[in-house]
Amino acid sequence: MNLPKPIKFQVERYVGGLSQFKKIVNPIKLSANESALGPSPKAIEAFEKEKNKIFKYPETDSNSLREVLSAKFNIDAKRIVCGSGSDQIFDLTCRLFLEPGDEVIVTEFGFIMHKIYASLHKAKVLLAKEKNFKASVEEIIKKVSDKTKIVFIANPNNPTGTYLSKNEMLDLRKKLRSNILLVVDDAYFEFLNSKNFSSGLDLFKDSLNVLITRTFSKIYGLAGLRLGWGYSSKEIIENMYQIKPPFNVNRAALNAGAEAIKDNEWTKKAIEHNTLWSKKIFSVLKEYNIKTNEPAVNFFLMNFDETKINSDEAFEKLATDKLILRKMIQYKISNSLRLTIGNKEANEQFIKSIGSILK
Ligand SMILES: Cc1ncc(COP(=O)(O)O)c(C=O)c1O
Repeated sequence: MNLPKPIKFQVERYVGGLSQFKKIVNPIKLSANESALGPSPKAIEAFEKEKNKIFKYPETDSNSLREVLSAKFNIDAKRIVCGSGSDQIFDLTCRLFLEPGDEVIVTEFGFIMHKIYASLHKAKVLLAKEKNFKASVEEIIKKVSDKTKIVFIANPNNPTGTYLSKNEMLDLRKKLRSNILLVVDDAYFEFLNSKNFSSGLDLFKDSLNVLITRTFSKIYGLAGLRLGWGYSSKEIIENMYQIKPPFNVNRAALNAGAEAIKDNEWTKKAIEHNTLWSKKIFSVLKEYNIKTNEPAVNFFLMNFDETKINSDEAFEKLATDKLILRKMIQYKISNSLRLTIGNKEANEQFIKSIGSILK
């Protein structure tokens, strides 16, 4: 029988963090950089209020949330697009700019979804070498050709946890041709408080050739609702609206997201929790000779070259204590695991467990 034939896309499939491993009862998931404390109680209340309205479509253009974001960050609502996760913004960006033959530059260990969407939209993806798991402006510029359309950079980056300074980011934009779109993924910026760092939005809110993405999946704890947004020139955002699916952000996400953004107290608490525990865990990792990134985000990329067991053995042993971490196979980072900072109990369990494994 002659059957309908789907196109075979030559793209790798995203492998998410495991939620379960070997039938562990009540596993502690530290594999997806999710929020340690969960969302603001006000966001949960807003989510619950929506339940009687789910038979109605949500807003087509997320206008109510755009207004909240505009007021919060002092930015132009017309230059905001909301998406079903920042993931959808990467997809729309690639769809809007890429044609076969175009080139996209990502960094060697950059967030893998950037690369996946660029390939899906038929661009050739070039990897710019990193130095000690940190992006390099010089290496990115080396990859530029007359076919380059987009450069993606997550700052700070996942899974490396490293970041480019404010000056390096400004230097990068200056050295790229003006008609190359620079996409700055701000997913983890809230966790980082350093004088030499500025978020993509702070650095480039007046630029016409930068697109900044933000997510509600990390500090705001709404990964399950799928909510993110992008900020760029009016022209780029208008074009994105033309191709964006209608109703792409659901009612619960719109309302919970607006409450989450307004709840400064909760956000502060989540940042304080992360700062406290990332410092503690960092010193524990040092004590056991696990090489890792400086505390800057809500996770650590841990290398086991100088420990008595390798990363696969460490993964298995931690799992026997119910802890599920992220293997780095898809990122091709050898002998390493990524650990998400969890709640107090999870972190204490990790510290106890890694201590008994490596003592
Ligand atoms: C750097 C980076 N950007 C974006 C995302 C995805 O965000 P969202 O849940 O908004 O699609 C992640 C999630 O892990 C990430 O690590």
